[in-house]
Amino acid sequence: MSKHSYQSVAAARRNVPHGPNHGYYLAQRPPEDPELTHVGPGTACGEYWRRFWFPFEMTEEVGDLPRRMRILGEDLVVFRSRDGDYGLLHLHCSHRNSSLEFGIVENDGLRCCYHGWKYAPNGKVLETPGEPATSKIKDRICHGAYPVHEYKGLLFTYMGPPDTVPPFPVYDTFDLPGHELVPYRISYPCNWLQVAENTMDPIHTVYLHTRVSNVQFEPTWGVTPMIEFHDGDQHLYSTLTYRWGDNIWVRTQQTVFPSFSGVGAFWEDATKEKVFFRSSITKWTVPIDDTHCMIIAWRHFGEGIDPDGRGKRDEVGVETVDFEGQTEQRSHYERQTTPGDYEAQVSQGAISSHASENLGSTDKGLMMLRRRLRMGIRDVADGKLPPRPDPDDAEIPLYIQDTVMTVPQTPGEDDEALMKSVTDAVMEVVIAGDALRGAARQDFIENGLRALKNDPRFDLSGVTKPDDVPVGE
Ligand code: FES
Ligand SMILES: [Fe+2]
Repeated sequence: MSKHSYQSVAAARRNVPHGPNHGYYLAQRPPEDPELTHVGPGTACGEYWRRFWFPFEMTEEVGDLPRRMRILGEDLVVFRSRDGDYGLLHLHCSHRNSSLEFGIVENDGLRCCYHGWKYAPNGKVLETPGEPATSKIKDRICHGAYPVHEYKGLLFTYMGPPDTVPPFPVYDTFDLPGHELVPYRISYPCNWLQVAENTMDPIHTVYLHTRVSNVQFEPTWGVTPMIEFHDGDQHLYSTLTYRWGDNIWVRTQQTVFPSFSGVGAFWEDATKEKVFFRSSITKWTVPIDDTHCMIIAWRHFGEGIDPDGRGKRDEVGVETVDFEGQTEQRSHYERQTTPGDYEAQVSQGAISSHASENLGSTDKGLMMLRRRLRMGIRDVADGKLPPRPDPDDAEIPLYIQDTVMTVPQTPGEDDEALMKSVTDAVMEVVIAGDALRGAARQDFIENGLRALKNDPRFDLSGVTKPDDVPVGE
């Protein structure tokens, strides 16, 4: 689809007459924006994606047999050699195209079933047994392969040019004290972007998850928060600030390009004070092809994340997770009466048509996200590399967190102004922690947030002693 057809249909739609019963003028549904949604080899967005490490599979899904996969529109096979090395190879044998899905796993590689060519995990041709012993064919060709990095139950790959492999990024939420990371993966029959942008669409939790489908979230979530979005060239974050009785709850959500994000506490009810509680989900939305994607992620379990034991560890795994509305595996009646993220995102169409949307002020986050993605895509098209993690930085700090503070409303005063000043003060402390790493950062932020109780700006002395406020683990 040419850029021209997308832009011209979108422009024509904006100029139709508006009024009741005017469906006739809107009947032609504009096509998708290919620059942001098409991910196959050689596409603009596909090239962008091929500059990052991202997970593509759960380690436990790779057993003794090769496993056929599709990632970024490419047909691939993943296997673990008997020596324990992972390989991600182009699906079709370099000899005569038979699928390596039917290959034989050996100690040092994968052997094609048809004529026995054998490939190392890095694509090197190890043997061509039907050829004469003097044949040099195996030295002349190399089978298509991508590097694989196994990390905490997920397999990551980088599918771009081999001379520009970025350092593998490790974020602070990958290793939090007391957190157990349980991998899961869920497939969606739709484009990656409409699933990935959910993290920058915080208002949906008020409607979809609380007022419409009150099956999981606490009543607090039905309160419309004060929302602020913050732009950046490597990540975006939003702050959601809720007033709940005498408490103010400041939640920070974050997306790191292209689609990495974290989700704070699920079942936060904002009734108890706490500072700097961290992720309950760490996730990537990964394109399978233009019309399919997957969330591949860790659910965090541990004391403090799930204090009432509501998380169900045994429901987390392949195509399943322990919160409702994330898969198609419910009756159509349930999906209609208590729709979840799956229904809201997949139903936008195989590839959502941005030209038929009408975005409002609460959509500012996804507008920022699309704009930044487009800038990144165009930079890569111009030969630039996206910002890379510092190879000497063992841990990249994220802002994802929940803090609840008792800050009563002052009668006659502007409560929104108070909520905003508390939010700004919380983020000032969290961002100041960027200079530190590990336990030193954690202590600095926790102490800084507790100290806000004594901050003259809020006059909170006597509400709670700073040391009584529990901290995230
Ligand atoms: S097709 Fe694979 S070895 Fe011939
Ligand atoms: Fe959601």
